[in-house]
Amino acid sequence: MSKSEIGLLGLGTMGAALASNIADNGFDIAVFNRTTQVTRDFKAAAGALSNRITATETLADFVASLASPRAIILMVPAGDPVDSQIAALRPLLDDDDLIIDAGNANFHDTNRRASEAGDKPFLGIGVSGGEEGARFGPSIMGGGKKQSWDRVAHVLTAIAAKHDDTACATWMGEAGAGHFVKAVHNGIEYADMQMIAEVYGILRDGMGLDNAAIAKVFDRWNAGALSSYLIGISARVAEARDSDTGNPVLDIIVDAAGQKGTGRWTAIEAQHLGAPVPAIEAAVAARNLSAARDLRRIGEDMFGAAPRALDGALTIDQLEQALIAGKIICYAQGFQMISAASDQFGWDLPLPEIAKVWRAGCIIRSVMLDDMATALTDAPDKNLMFSSIFADALKANHEAMRQVVAQAAMHGLAVPALSSGLAYFDSMRTHRGTANMLQGQRDYFGRHGFERLDREGRGFHGPWAD
Ligand code: 6PG
Repeated sequence: MSKSEIGLLGLGTMGAALASNIADNGFDIAVFNRTTQVTRDFKAAAGALSNRITATETLADFVASLASPRAIILMVPAGDPVDSQIAALRPLLDDDDLIIDAGNANFHDTNRRASEAGDKPFLGIGVSGGEEGARFGPSIMGGGKKQSWDRVAHVLTAIAAKHDDTACATWMGEAGAGHFVKAVHNGIEYADMQMIAEVYGILRDGMGLDNAAIAKVFDRWNAGALSSYLIGISARVAEARDSDTGNPVLDIIVDAAGQKGTGRWTAIEAQHLGAPVPAIEAAVAARNLSAARDLRRIGEDMFGAAPRALDGALTIDQLEQALIAGKIICYAQGFQMISAASDQFGWDLPLPEIAKVWRAGCIIRSVMLDDMATALTDAPDKNLMFSSIFADALKANHEAMRQVVAQAAMHGLAVPALSSGLAYFDSMRTHRGTANMLQGQRDYFGRHGFERLDREGRGFHGPWAD
């Protein structure tokens, strides 16, 4: 029997979709899953693709069915399962066989695995787009040795989403670079989703729109500057009805958000890097707050329900403008964080290419990314907010964002990510800030010293030192 060009281990939702995508693009693929029945079911359901799929039932058969040097994609849950699978595979592999971790790994783990692999080829690739993306074209962010990437680039670019004719699959740099970029993608995803949810709250509680009307608003926005996957699916979620009861699905979904951790990793890593991403941090905190439903009920009983009708204080157009400004700010924070990591970790992360790889296939795809790629090509080190195109957009929209945040505050509608985004914008346009007070306080209680505006040097102390 002829050997398969590539192998995939782990036929969960994402693994099965990715394996089908690979077969669909004309590559022979061998698959293996710990539970054999899953492998059999996958092959049986593959239809016309099944002649490209070799279903194997032992790890040894799986490895033996692959052409050398082998390339094996791992699609198992992030964390310990990845290490266990690598440990189980290594004794069966040759030194030049390539292992590719395509799960949502923490990039620190990918760095460690790359170093443990030594000279043995290892890639960590971030794959975005959910099940549909995995099946029909994800966005792929690769990390590891460039020569390892080059070995499988033809497969990865073939299965990736295409923007015009450009494949959304790019090598980002060594070791954990791909998973790092994927983590920031998810941080932006969290912030973008949270801002949309906040605006949904204003439409629902502040303006009294029903779900069908909210879906129409999102659909209209999706035809303009906000056009993006997340706005599109928000319209679909808002209009959907429960097949059992006929009620709007949104009205029966519990208001407590789950999270697998990637957004949290972004916030934590941003703190380590000293790279401010407050809108992303606010979004992570908002998910945590959402989970505290019992406490929130106690709070509502104690203080009274907060959301109050806006009575015409805001227009739907202002909400759209606020989201436009908010979205730019989320991405600006994410790209600044990537730039900081590139410096600190000695990567040469290609900022314009990252904007390009997010243009199709991934969850944060949006019409704005084309302009972001251009802005980052022109001035990769500049905060995206200061590029001419996005500066103009912010000038046109930040007053509406301010109105939305102010009116939301006045009416008890919580908008943590929008507020935080606005505070970031205002901080970034204020040359004379307020940290002189912090420095004075630090020096007062700890003789930490400060710099002076009127003299060169550092380590000055205030009169309290005497
Ligand atoms: C993607 C998604 C995907 C997934 C994450 C985030 O890019 O396709 O980010 O990776 O949705 O698991 O999910 P949580 O919301 O559970 O953190």
